[in-house]
Amino acid sequence: MFIHRLLFVPVFIVCCLTTLTNEATLPNDEVEALRSIGKILGKTKWNFSIDPCSRGNSWLDQPTRYYANNITCDCSFNNNTTCHVIHILLTAQNLLGTLPPNLTSLPFLQKIDLTRNYLSGPIPPEWGSMRLVSISLLGNRLTGSISGELANLRNLTSLILENNDLFGTLPAALGNLSKLERLHLSSNKFTGEIPEVFARLTSLKEFRISNNNFTGQILDFIFQNWTNLEHTYMEGSGLSGPIPSINATLENLEYIIISDLNGAETSFPQLFINARLPKLDRLMLRNCNLIGEIPASLGTFTTIKILFLNRSNFTGSVPQWILNTKEKMDLSYNNFNDTGESSCQKRTCSQALQESITPLHFVRINCGGGEITVNGITYEADNYQAGPSTFYQSTNWAFSSTGIFLSNNRPDDVLTLKSSILSSNGGYELYTDARVSPSSLTYYAFCLANATYNGERVKQDFNIIEAAGGAGLSRVQRFNANVTDGTLEIHFRWAGKGTTSIPERGIDGPLISGISIFNPGRFSTSIDSYCLRLIAFIRKFKE
Ligand SMILES: *[C@@H]1O[C@H](CO)[C@@H](O)[C@H](O)[C@H]1NC(C)=O
Ligand SMILES: *[C@@H]1O[C@H](CO)[C@@H](O)[C@H](O)[C@H]1NC(C)=O
Ligand SMILES: *[C@@H]1O[C@H](CO)[C@@H](O)[C@H](O)[C@H]1NC(C)=O
Ligand SMILES: *[C@@H]1O[C@H](CO)[C@@H](O)[C@H](O)[C@H]1NC(C)=O
Ligand SMILES: *[C@@H]1O[C@H](CO)[C@@H](O)[C@H](O)[C@H]1NC(C)=O
Ligand SMILES: *[C@@H]1O[C@H](CO)[C@@H](O)[C@H](O)[C@H]1NC(C)=O
Ligand SMILES: *[C@@H]1O[C@H](CO)[C@@H](O)[C@H](O)[C@H]1NC(C)=O
Ligand SMILES: *[C@@H]1O[C@H](CO)[C@@H](O)[C@H](O)[C@H]1NC(C)=O
Ligand SMILES: *[C@@H]1O[C@H](CO)[C@@H](O)[C@H](O)[C@H]1NC(C)=O
Ligand SMILES: *[C@@H]1O[C@H](CO)[C@@H](O)[C@H](O)[C@H]1NC(C)=O
Ligand SMILES: *[C@@H]1O[C@H](CO)[C@@H](O)[C@H](O)[C@H]1NC(C)=O
Ligand SMILES: *[C@@H]1O[C@H](CO)[C@@H](O)[C@H](O)[C@H]1NC(C)=O
Repeated sequence: MFIHRLLFVPVFIVCCLTTLTNEATLPNDEVEALRSIGKILGKTKWNFSIDPCSRGNSWLDQPTRYYANNITCDCSFNNNTTCHVIHILLTAQNLLGTLPPNLTSLPFLQKIDLTRNYLSGPIPPEWGSMRLVSISLLGNRLTGSISGELANLRNLTSLILENNDLFGTLPAALGNLSKLERLHLSSNKFTGEIPEVFARLTSLKEFRISNNNFTGQILDFIFQNWTNLEHTYMEGSGLSGPIPSINATLENLEYIIISDLNGAETSFPQLFINARLPKLDRLMLRNCNLIGEIPASLGTFTTIKILFLNRSNFTGSVPQWILNTKEKMDLSYNNFNDTGESSCQKRTCSQALQESITPLHFVRINCGGGEITVNGITYEADNYQAGPSTFYQSTNWAFSSTGIFLSNNRPDDVLTLKSSILSSNGGYELYTDARVSPSSLTYYAFCLANATYNGERVKQDFNIIEAAGGAGLSRVQRFNANVTDGTLEIHFRWAGKGTTSIPERGIDGPLISGISIFNPGRFSTSIDSYCLRLIAFIRKFKE
């Protein structure tokens, strides 16, 4: 027994040593490059006493929904004796540094993913000399413009720059990225026209340019020459109409999401109606200055699951196929002659509150949450879960919401947010819940002692982050409104601005934490007007 054990030990050691000497290693210059790259990114936790390619402690963690910490090497070089770093994934790690020009010291790197950090500064033009295939920088604080040098990355398939502070025009040279499949530029401050040579990006499958300041028209080549197109997002891009015509057949096109176009009113393009789009799943043309009637033949797009044609000036009757459908449709805010409803928007005090028409002097709502009392003032509960396009009536107030969330990882029917998602400052309870809406949200207060909300827009492109002085901070905004027929209407509309991917994908649209309406005249005799106080935690731009 004893002898066996003693014999076993030396054998074990020899075996280990052999394995070690055979193990492929990362060249020292790449180790040094990682050291320097880590320093510049602000990645402090890499353990250099371990081989970076070992997939060991600090170099590879189990990923969670947004977090990734993963250095991947290819160790097949020189007859399995040499490793090179090929992927760097450092996502949702609160990295505070900048992007290292030194990345070029990892000549075999193909994929860099630094999504959801706080990295600032420009995208180094030096990266253009690499052999990168995929760049993901979503959700950082990058500034500067896109360097034309990046056009040398001829094998690039993904360029994800969404949600940064990038600006300037798009370099025409990017039209050379013939393998590019994903170009995500949403939520930046890009300006100028989309270069005509982008027509050559025929491998493109996903094109996202929402929430920018582009100029010019939506170019025809998008739906003509990009024959591999699957998803397009152009909400609040700055571009003008008209909606372009579509190549006779786009086999793979699934999403057409366009909103808030500038420019003149036009009718539905015939070439759009005639196109064959066998996979079309979502068609959203919101606030796109479309007029005339909705073409009956649109009904031949039988695959559509979500159809939004709201906020245009469509007239005539709603086509029968829409009335018959079980899919999700939103045709609100048009000029149809026969919708047969909209009664909910015209409710009066006596209809809303039969039993009592005593004029009220205040309405206080804890939007998205239960009843709470803050500083001796009670806010009514507003935690009805609602659903897509909802009208909900409480005591002497009601809300209506339109739209649905265009994200697969968010349920349509949850229009309240909890504190785990919202950050709150100072633990102020009103801000720990909020009501969200995918598109537009209207609160109605009834039975006030006399109200005409005259429909005036009080704020446009309101940026809560700028107003509050940072993300996660509260902002109280006061408005005055004269009330003469008992009803006050507070309308929020999402104009495609702001982020749709931070803190996570799928939270779009207006968001509000609390509403307080009160009549100061009740307390100080001479003032007639109502003070409408929006205790707003409106993360989005809205009007
Ligand atoms: C870039 O990395 C190299 C090692 O690969 C190092 O010698 C150099 O100092 C680094 N440059 C910067 C600016 O950190
Ligand atoms: C690390 O990244 C590589 C390449 O991106 C991927 O194939 C691998 O599954 C990842 N490992 C873990 C544990 O997530
Ligand atoms: C590759 O490695 C194997 C064993 O590790 C060895 O037998 C072979 O000779 C090597 N080939 C070359 C070309 O070095
Ligand atoms: C390298 O290692 C892999 C897997 O261990 C093996 O399949 C491959 O044949 C090896 N290549 C050479 C050149 O030895
Ligand atoms: C592109 O990929 C090809 C084939 O893998 C390779 O030969 C070429 O060097 C790569 N070029 C760049 C700029 O990455
Ligand atoms: C975008 O354009 C609008 C109107 O042209 C302008 O008011 C706004 O300041 C611009 N925003 C940025 C970030 O450039
Ligand atoms: C789009 O493709 C057509 C046919 O391939 C070509 O004639 C046209 O020049 C392309 N459009 C642009 C803007 O390059
Ligand atoms: C329209 O699509 C067809 C089929 O994919 C393609 O051959 C044709 O070039 C496209 N038209 C333009 C103008 O690119
Ligand atoms: C709809 O038409 C009316 C007048 O006919 C106009 O005042 C309004 O601005 C138009 N609305 C839209 C969204 O185009
Ligand atoms: C609505 O408009 C359409 C088209 O102009 C017309 O055919 C229809 O009779 C109108 N319906 C009603 C109820 O006025
Ligand atoms: C509100 O004022 C109007 C006249 O401006 C009056 O006719 C109406 O009775 C008043 N309503 C209430 C509830 O006081
Ligand atoms: C409300 O009415 C008063 C007096 O008529 C007027 O001075 C004030 O501008 C009005 N306020 C609003 C917001 O309409």
